[in-house]
Amino acid sequence: MGIERTFIAIKPDGTSKKLVGRVIQKFEDLDFDLVGLKLIKVTKELAEKHYGEHKGKPFFDDLVKFITSGPVVAMAWEGESIIEISRKILGSTDPVKAAPGSIRGDFATNIAKNIVHASDSPESAIRELGIFFSEGFVD
Ligand code: CMP
Repeated sequence: MGIERTFIAIKPDGTSKKLVGRVIQKFEDLDFDLVGLKLIKVTKELAEKHYGEHKGKPFFDDLVKFITSGPVVAMAWEGESIIEISRKILGSTDPVKAAPGSIRGDFATNIAKNIVHASDSPESAIRELGIFFSEGFVD
């Protein structure tokens, strides 16, 4: 896999539950490098672009409504095999299946409010980093 970059977002439930520090700590504990960080209010347009692959699914409108409902911490992280490892740090998308010790396993109970998002492949990482860090992204 080698050194990769990925997009991680702490969603409105994560910021309102004051989990920003703990999410960042998990990545720092693994010695990953934070290479981009901003606190944003996601617009409807940005949300629909980011979640474009889910357009047409029954939960799409609620997904857009939720991600635009409060502050989001958008981050770019770098490290060896980080795309696969970050998915383990987060746990399964559905908190019911997320292992204890993972972010979703420890802090979420509902698939629609699962605290944090991580790119699921190298292609998604490039696409999502391009959406959220088109300007001012470090090197
Ligand atoms: P995320 O990793 O941000 O990527 C897409 C999101 O859609 C996912 O986390 C969930 O929050 C949400 N999602 C996926 N499947 C469902 C579902 N069946 N019902 C509601 N929300 C879902």
